[in-house]
Amino acid sequence: MKMKTNMKQLLAVLMMLALTLGLLAGCGGEKTASEGGNETKPVKIGILQLMEHPSLNTIRESIIEGLTEAGYTEGDNLEVDYQNGQNDMTVMKTAAQKFVEGGCDVIIAIATPAAQAVLSETTDIPIVFAAVTDPIGAGLVDSLEVPGGNVTGTSDEVSAEMIMNLAEEITPGFQKIGALYSSGEDNSASVIANLKEYAAANDLEVIESAVTNSSEVQQAAQYLADKVDIVYSPIDNTVASAMAVATEVFNEQKIPFYVSADSMVQDGGLATYGIDYTVLGKETSAMVARILEGENPGEMPVVKMSDMSVYINQQTADAIGVTFPQSVLDKAQVLGE
Ligand code: TRP
Repeated sequence: MKMKTNMKQLLAVLMMLALTLGLLAGCGGEKTASEGGNETKPVKIGILQLMEHPSLNTIRESIIEGLTEAGYTEGDNLEVDYQNGQNDMTVMKTAAQKFVEGGCDVIIAIATPAAQAVLSETTDIPIVFAAVTDPIGAGLVDSLEVPGGNVTGTSDEVSAEMIMNLAEEITPGFQKIGALYSSGEDNSASVIANLKEYAAANDLEVIESAVTNSSEVQQAAQYLADKVDIVYSPIDNTVASAMAVATEVFNEQKIPFYVSADSMVQDGGLATYGIDYTVLGKETSAMVARILEGENPGEMPVVKMSDMSVYINQQTADAIGVTFPQSVLDKAQVLGE
């Protein structure tokens, strides 16, 4: 559903007010039942998620599940303060400050801008990021092997080149690639750079259409639709949250729309080669558990997901008249049936 900008701003202001007044449950502050007697205090975890879109929700749910499996159960020995960043830096900064003031034991940041917001508020509290495409490019760590400081996490690095190879298999012979992405997301920047290298090496043209928020996606898609042979979106949160409008435009013009995450295929993208975000969530929770047991995040290497699968959407293929070759069907997981 579309929300008017002023409505969104009003909500953001109300949210900030609520946070400032401490109306929402937080890390620390209020006493919990288990704090009396001899019982040990529950561990307090703050989760800042950039925004709500299917992939990030999957990651969060999988993290909570993983923590339970590691012996940390919400309402028992674990307190979770979940904050939705609403794809808004001001909202995220306020949430991060609240986590720090409230004395979280660990802060989990889901997606790149959320991790950047949290890191700029604390250099002490351990931060575990989840699904950061390019942790070095985003300025979160100096090295993947030894992150240093108070931060480590999981990365969902994607290769535009691998996805273009898949595109060559499904819709060979394209010359002009439309690149639809958000100019504000560092996670997209490095993938677009990779796309341009691929294009240059293969004599292909890249036509860019960048947005600053999800309400611009429809127009940006329309701009590309009559200029290009295929469209590609990197692992971009803003596009991921507006897949319905993007898909409508591209399906109508019968443009193959290649994306970078399973959820984006589920939501109407034609195909991708990507990771399993449930696994990434579990890996993230395992890192959190290790830190709760005393390990130093700065000495824990960033975990990159290596298991990748091909995901395709049969409905989208039918809508635009594309037939998947047997070689692709043989290795793909079919979504959207
Ligand atoms: N990798 C993204 C980032 O660094 C976050 C992300 C996870 C994502 N899953 C996704 C983005 C699916 C788009 C679609 O911020």
